[in-house]
Amino acid sequence: MKIVFATGNEGKMKEIRMIMSDLNIEIKSMKEAGIDIPINEDGLTFEENAKIKASAIADELARRGEEAIVLADDSGLEVDYLGKEPGVYSARYMGEDTPYSIKNANIIKRLEGVPDKERTARFVCVIAAAMPDGTSYQTRATIEGIIGYEERGTNGFGYDPIFYLPEYGKYSAELSPDEKNRISHRGKALEKMKEYLKNNKTFTDK
Ligand code: IMP
Repeated sequence: MKIVFATGNEGKMKEIRMIMSDLNIEIKSMKEAGIDIPINEDGLTFEENAKIKASAIADELARRGEEAIVLADDSGLEVDYLGKEPGVYSARYMGEDTPYSIKNANIIKRLEGVPDKERTARFVCVIAAAMPDGTSYQTRATIEGIIGYEERGTNGFGYDPIFYLPEYGKYSAELSPDEKNRISHRGKALEKMKEYLKNNKTFTDK
C-alpha cells in the first residue's frame, strides 16, 4: 500500500513527508506516481476542491489497476477585511505565475490604513482521502493571524511572509519548518488525517 498525494508543490510535499513519516508508508507526489492529468479545481469551497483532486487521482489509479490511498489538500488564505479573499483562489490570485512578492505587496496595499484589529486572517487547509475501498474522509484545520505591514522572513512559501502570528510574535515565514508543521493549518489537518489512517483497516489489517 502506498499514499499518493495530489500536489505538484514541492514545498508542500516536504511538509507532508515530515509529518507522515511515522506512518512508515511510501508517499509519492502525483509526479512521482507518474500522473499528469488536468484537474479542474472549480469548486467554491476548500472541501469541494480537495474532493475533486482526490477523486480525479483515485479514478486515474483505478483505471490503471493500481491501489493506493489518495490524499489531496486544498488550502488558502482568508483575509477578513477583503471578504475572505483570496480564499480558494489563493494560488490563482493576480495570476498563477505572478510572484508572491507582488501578490503579498498587493494585499498589504489593499489593507493600507487598516488597524490591527481589522487585519485578521487565517490559513485554511482541508485534506481529503479517497480510500481504496471507495470510502472517503476529510479533515480541516486553520491557523489564525493578522496581515502584517511588510514582508518578513525567508522560510515557508506563498503568503507566509505577510502572515503575522501574534501568539508567537513572529511572521509565518520566520518559523522553522518544524515549528510551522506543529502549528500550521496543514500540519494540524495532516495530524488529524494521520490519526484517521492509523485507525483505518487499510492500515490495521496490514
Ligand atoms: P492549493 O495548492 O490549491 O491548495 O493552493 C494553496 C495556495 O494557498 C498556495 O499556493 C498559497 O498561495 C496559499 N497557501 C496555502 N498554504 C500556505 C502556507 O502554508 N503558507 C503560505 N501560503 C499558503
